[in-house]
Amino acid sequence: MIRPHGADALQPCIITNETERAALLAEAEFLPSMLLNSAAAANTVMLGAGYFSPLTGFMNLADILKVASDMQTSEGYFWPVPVANLTKDVSGIDVGRRIALRDPNVTGHPIMAVMQVESIEKISHQQLNFITEKIFGTLDNAHPGVATFRTLGQFCVAGDVQVFNFSYFQSEFPSTFKTAVEIREEIKALGWKKVVAFQTRNPMHRAHEELCRMAKERLEADGIIIHMLLGRLKEGDIPAPVRGSCIRKMADVYFPKNTVMVNGYGFDMLYAGPREALLHAVFRQNMGATHLIVGRDHAGVSDFYGPFDAQTIFDTLPENALEIEIFAADHTAYSKKLKRVVMMREAPDHLPEDYIILSGTKVRQMLSEGISLPPEFARPEVAEILMEHYRMQAKQTEVGT
Ligand code: ADX
Repeated sequence: MIRPHGADALQPCIITNETERAALLAEAEFLPSMLLNSAAAANTVMLGAGYFSPLTGFMNLADILKVASDMQTSEGYFWPVPVANLTKDVSGIDVGRRIALRDPNVTGHPIMAVMQVESIEKISHQQLNFITEKIFGTLDNAHPGVATFRTLGQFCVAGDVQVFNFSYFQSEFPSTFKTAVEIREEIKALGWKKVVAFQTRNPMHRAHEELCRMAKERLEADGIIIHMLLGRLKEGDIPAPVRGSCIRKMADVYFPKNTVMVNGYGFDMLYAGPREALLHAVFRQNMGATHLIVGRDHAGVSDFYGPFDAQTIFDTLPENALEIEIFAADHTAYSKKLKRVVMMREAPDHLPEDYIILSGTKVRQMLSEGISLPPEFARPEVAEILMEHYRMQAKQTEVGT
């Protein structure tokens, strides 16, 4: 199986030994605590679940700056997006002490981890702009990732973490949320060698489905993992339970048995385009995938990135940065001539009017306007689930107004 990133074995920060957990929890109750923001909580979940292996905690300012500028940690690991615990309030927290990290996304703010505070540093306005510009490629607050990142806080609290739980992801998505460790075990049990991962924050329209099929066939892969984002999205994106139902239905009906795994990870969407695609590759390697599909405008938003920037950035990496490879897909659309979904570069005789362009944004727009999704856009079984969701939503809005 493919090696985890930067090490021979995964290093998840979750504490699984019951005795150790109980002792640590008892200690944590009496420690000074810090309420995390959602971004830091998501980082904690990823560290706990082994997706961010070989990292063992939150980066200090020097590491954050180095990752932002060179995509490398001070220990020499390739890393594309800082794993930071930024906060506005550091009262009651001291360097060299242990603190309890509290979950902002669960009622009562339970403790989700214990952290050994290595440093507390103030980030200057200039440094914050530098980091933002490097990760997102823009300082424009109209970018949802930039807007969120800028409000996280000016203090950076760094140090190793021991994680107790996976926040709300395990209870809300019991059959979908999986750790990198669990996915590696499933791949091993299935005996898959070549494994394609598909990142998605959408309910999977026809272009998504065909991308998975094309990648599997062309790479002669043993299986596909549809690995959906379960964390926070921007307004208007479709909620994870609905996306999950659509994806499972599509996989059940339209893919051969035992060729598709559907699961998800607990992280908030950054919309950082190329940098986020690299991060996606790191944690898909950690879960045991040999390939990651990167299509058009991967992890992008509006027009902030060129349609294939998230592919070309992989060409700029030093050799051996990553072992996972990408399946670089061209813009995929429905051909009215051929009556099937094609990659546009593979249909050179086609004119623009020969295509129906498929996109998540367009699907959401049609649904919100109450327009039925045609079969070129979505499988009928998937369309039904989505339309029902929008009907329910419209009803709730009516009741609420
Ligand atoms: S993402 O933000 O998670 O990347 P989305 O769920 O829409 O968004 O996309 C999942 C993957 O499918 C990404 O690799 C994206 O580039 C790819 N993709 C989506 N639609 C198309 C399309 N029409 N043509 C080519 N690739 C696409």
